[in-house]
Amino acid sequence: MSFKEHIRVIHDYPQPGIRFKDITTLLQNGPVYKEAIDELKQLVSKWEIDVIAGPEARGFVIGAPLAYALGVGFIPIRKSGKLPGETIEADYALEYGKDKLAMHKDAIKPGQKVLIADDLLATGGTIQTSINLIHQLGGDIVGAAFLIELSYLDGRSKLDELDVVSLMQF
Ligand code: PRP
Repeated sequence: MSFKEHIRVIHDYPQPGIRFKDITTLLQNGPVYKEAIDELKQLVSKWEIDVIAGPEARGFVIGAPLAYALGVGFIPIRKSGKLPGETIEADYALEYGKDKLAMHKDAIKPGQKVLIADDLLATGGTIQTSINLIHQLGGDIVGAAFLIELSYLDGRSKLDELDVVSLMQF
């Protein structure tokens, strides 16, 4: 299936010069959304996975259905102040702006095999910070899966040796 035709590109959002990849047009199409998750499931089948961790908010709409499809747990990586239990936090820079990400201290058991899932790999800042948090908790990251990879921003190069798969590349 050609997934790209289901991604809407919006110019100058949220800032002039940005060509925003809007995934809502893919998500609202049931068969295409299902096919995308099914194909991601195939791409990650090479890894042994105990849990999937996905960053708020769009990482949830990819990571949670993928976790369901694989029958593994899902761990939300949230923006600061949203998780009710004891957390660890880390600062990060986005393609535009900055924020803080947090995880519950007991979200991952040391040695658990973790797949990171998100809708988009842009600069790689979000995933670098997610890696940092998961490592602090003792997780063993097997790889990262994305719906979209913005190859021209070369986020992959920031992720060192991490094995990365993506359904679409721009
Ligand atoms: C977007 C996207 C990724 C991240 C990619 O999330 O969903 O998580 O940016 O950018 P990066 O590779 O440069 O870090 P955003 O922080 O906009 O949050 P949202 O999902 O809540 O909209």
